[in-house]
Amino acid sequence: MIKHALAVINGPNLNLLGLREPHLYGNKTLAIICADLQQEFISQAELTFFQSNHEGAIIDFIHACLGKVSGMVINPGAYAHTSIAIRDAIAATAIPCVEVHLSNIFARENFRQESIVASSCLGLICGFGAQSYSLGVRALLPHI
Ligand code: DQA
Repeated sequence: MIKHALAVINGPNLNLLGLREPHLYGNKTLAIICADLQQEFISQAELTFFQSNHEGAIIDFIHACLGKVSGMVINPGAYAHTSIAIRDAIAATAIPCVEVHLSNIFARENFRQESIVASSCLGLICGFGAQSYSLGVRALLPHI
C-alpha cells in the first residue's frame, strides 16, 4: 500500500490542549492527539505535524507543503473565523485540505459560527473532540 505524505496543521492556542478549557476541548494534549493519529494511520499515511500561534508561520508552512505532501488537515483555531490569508494560502497551493475542530463551532458563540477557511477546504468536521482529526484524515484519503 502507498503511504501518503500528509500534513496536520494546528493553529493558535492548540498547543495548550489538555490544559485549555477541558470541558470544551477534552483532556488530551496535542502531542497525544498527534501520536494517536500517526498510530491509527500508520499503514496509510506519513503525517507531518505543525503547530503555530502565528498566522504568517502557518501560511509559510502551508506554502512549504507544496510538492511535499498530497493532503492537509487543518485546525486553524480562532483563525478559522478571521483569516482570509490562511484561506487564500490553502487555495493557492490547491492541496486537498480538510478543516477540523474539536468543538462544534455551530453550537457555540455567534462569532465562531462562520469559518472563512472552510471555503478553501474539501469540507469541515467539527464537534467530535480528538476524533475530529481522525475523521478528517479518513475524509481526506479518498481525495488524494
Ligand atoms: C477550535 C474552535 C475555535 O473556535 C477556537 O478558537 C479554538 C479551538 C476547536 O478545535 O474547537 O481555538 O478550533
